[in-house]
Amino acid sequence: MSRTKATFLPPVMEARRWLEGVDFSDRPLINVSQAAPVDPPPQQLRQAIADVALNVPDAHLYGPVLGLPALKSELATQWSAAYQGSITADQVGITSGCNQAFSATISMLCDQDDEVILPIPYYFNHRMWLDMQGVKTVPLQTGPDMLPDPAYAGELITPRTRAIALVTPNNPCGVEYPAELVRAFYNLCQDRGIALILDETYRDFDSRTGAPHDLFADPNWADTLIHLYSFSKAYRLTGHRVGAMVSSVARLEEAEKFLDTVAICPNQIGQYAALWGMQNLGAWVSGERDEILDRRAAIAEGFPTLEQQGWKLRGLGAYFAYLEHPFAMDSDDLARELVKQAGILVLPGTMFTPDGDADGKRQIRIAFANVDRAGITELFTRLAGLNL
Ligand SMILES: Cc1ncc(COP(=O)(O)O)c(C=O)c1O
Repeated sequence: MSRTKATFLPPVMEARRWLEGVDFSDRPLINVSQAAPVDPPPQQLRQAIADVALNVPDAHLYGPVLGLPALKSELATQWSAAYQGSITADQVGITSGCNQAFSATISMLCDQDDEVILPIPYYFNHRMWLDMQGVKTVPLQTGPDMLPDPAYAGELITPRTRAIALVTPNNPCGVEYPAELVRAFYNLCQDRGIALILDETYRDFDSRTGAPHDLFADPNWADTLIHLYSFSKAYRLTGHRVGAMVSSVARLEEAEKFLDTVAICPNQIGQYAALWGMQNLGAWVSGERDEILDRRAAIAEGFPTLEQQGWKLRGLGAYFAYLEHPFAMDSDDLARELVKQAGILVLPGTMFTPDGDADGKRQIRIAFANVDRAGITELFTRLAGLNL
């Protein structure tokens, strides 16, 4: 069997196909399926991108495989301050998006038939890459609060385990992993000699102030921790493909082989855009965070209406509300019905869980980042009015 046949179709594309032939003319579609900003970057950033395109000749050429030195330094400096730790520029690799950072990380850590532990529900692209690499996804069931248990994870580690991969704030559940929980996973990984992959794509929208964990304060963090980040969300740069991995120099040297082969270098103009954003858009990003937190509050405030009908709010945060539905049907059937009957596009829990997982069949993910307060009210009205 080929590598690609080992995994499933891209979920967001599959969900888009459910829209074909459905008429939304008298009730516009509420699309809460994809966790990506729909608006372009702010005007100042677009201007900066235009200036780079016109005035920086190097921005059109291949650059260093591991990224623009100035961007690596900026990230090292800002992260060292934010996490109260010590990160140097040569411990930062810039990648073509955070998905590529994960792919490079797995390729650098794993051989075929190795194992990586993922909390369930997982981010589907993590699962897909493990499948395509011939790496076994070892499912770590989460509790009712959607948090993974380090003691249980410890029981799942075998001689073939290479890493535990966590996403915090979490996609798809929204939950923010407490600093002590992240620390407990780190200690476990350190003790057992495996890597902790921490995807913090949604770090800019964390509701907590201050550092979300203290791992970078450990002088030996680079032996265990591989931190991943995306410039896609905070700066609305999804189409420019810029992400980062923060790791030991030795691991980055291995990742460089992968990155050189698949992309040679990250998008140069995108990297200049990310750098400009980091240096100039702090206040703007903080305003975006306030808006996302307000939308999250709107979900929490409106939810009791759905709760009365048997819905449960299992997780809320970052861009996501993770819901348990009350209907006697599987979530993938429900998701298709929601398009037809309510003009709502969501992704079912089955897309974030292994085949046959009973919980996934009862869950849906709402990616609310693009829906304002009025839209959230409308979303809840439509869900409350369902007759299934
Ligand atoms: C947890 C997580 N990691 C990575 C990504 C992909 O980010 P990028 O656009 O930087 O590849 C996403 C996007 O939805 C995500 O949710």
